Amino acid sequence: MKNSICRYDVSMRKLLAAINEEPAGIAFVVDESEKLCGVVTDGDFRRLLLAGKSLDESLSKSDLGEFVFAREGQTMDELLRITDKRVRTIPIVDANGKPVNYFRYEHRLSMIPVAEPDLKGNEFKYLTDAFLSTWISSRGKYIDELELKFSEFCGCKHGVAVSNGTVAIHLALLALNIGPGDEVIVPDLTFAATINTVLHAGAVPVIVDVDLNSWCIDPAAIEKAITPKTKAIIPVHVYGQPCEMDKIMAIASKHNLFVIEDCAEAHGAKFNGRPVGSFGHIACYSFFANKIITTGEGGMCVTNDERLSDRMKVLRDHGMNKQKRYWHDEVGYNYRMTNLQAAIGVAQLERVDEIILERKKIEEKYKSALKDFPAIKWQQNISGRDRVVWLVSIEVPAEKREALFAALNKHGVDVRPFFYTLSSMPVYKAYVHSDVNSKILSARGMNLPTVTGVDAEKVLNAFKEVF
Ligand SMILES: Cc1ncc(COP(=O)(O)O)c(C=O)c1O
Repeated sequence: MKNSICRYDVSMRKLLAAINEEPAGIAFVVDESEKLCGVVTDGDFRRLLLAGKSLDESLSKSDLGEFVFAREGQTMDELLRITDKRVRTIPIVDANGKPVNYFRYEHRLSMIPVAEPDLKGNEFKYLTDAFLSTWISSRGKYIDELELKFSEFCGCKHGVAVSNGTVAIHLALLALNIGPGDEVIVPDLTFAATINTVLHAGAVPVIVDVDLNSWCIDPAAIEKAITPKTKAIIPVHVYGQPCEMDKIMAIASKHNLFVIEDCAEAHGAKFNGRPVGSFGHIACYSFFANKIITTGEGGMCVTNDERLSDRMKVLRDHGMNKQKRYWHDEVGYNYRMTNLQAAIGVAQLERVDEIILERKKIEEKYKSALKDFPAIKWQQNISGRDRVVWLVSIEVPAEKREALFAALNKHGVDVRPFFYTLSSMPVYKAYVHSDVNSKILSARGMNLPTVTGVDAEKVLNAFKEVF
């Protein structure tokens, strides 16, 4: 990149040489203090010539238009959000505003992604079968099969397939009659769907802290947050780690509370040998494309309670009476999954054990490549909890994390920071009860690519560079 950086007052000839140096056809223009003040592409150069500039004239600041840039350490996701078909190359600046690298839209193709679906089994075959059957909406054999087999996999009697994991939680809250005036306890370290759905239901979320060791909701923090208005707890088996379900269920039964397990990231995880999802009144799964198994978009509620399952089936289908079609007993929703999605899900479920094992192997590959970095804290294996690897998750010293993101991106490896804590976001500020540990974890945590064939050497080189 060095040869394509030039000062704003160089001659047009030099500017052209700089553009010529860079395969992206771009020059990065800096001011007196070497701060980036513009970018010039070969197209801009052509326009300057057409506007009457000569090759021996120098460029001036007024020739530079607006430009976009990114900062060192921004993730691939963020970089992709700034680039588009028009702006395909964006400079990356350091903390002093000096250009240090650039990102091209095409780079995404050579980056190792954090996640990608594994669709190597019967997915295409079943999808085609569903398509050719013309049962492409929310009725068809694959829906029934997925509900039956997935609920079995979770150790539950009933499954209710829905259009995504977010509406699964909303549906569970509705089926349990949770709404205005009720409080629902959620962990601070989770994806926003966990809290958004409580707000969608009109209830008040109460955000509590997580445990530093497991990263999951802290049962002691739950107890402290209970009030006479508390109606439910939503433990999230975050990054595949089971929550302490024995303690949580004991608290729930002592205070007469519902438990909705958020299993979006933990298909196949077990607590004391029993599948997560089989402890609470209802459990909710996501089948988004980056999840352990996927249907593209999709989700499922599982429960052992037939009454709750029936209620969720009615609510998912506009509140329509099952016997009297087009007669609505209550205000419902369209939260249905399509037979096409379910066809993919059935094929995924055939290989779920294989997929879970493969993800474990990926984590082991990283562990052996990075064994000489004591600064890394790996996600914990806790006695009695069989976690699954959703995304390989580690803690690193917070002050090194940005540099690691930059180094990993430079080596062609995408990376994801842990979730921002809910308590750190102004929209949820009013609902915070406790948040000390989650803040620490959110600043330290990162997810490494959890994809087959990942090149752990690249990750190793990035870590060597930073440590
Ligand atoms: C913990 C958690 N809950 C809920 C969801 C929502 O699932 P979906 O994206 O399928 O709506 C996700 C998905 O990202 C999640 O990670």
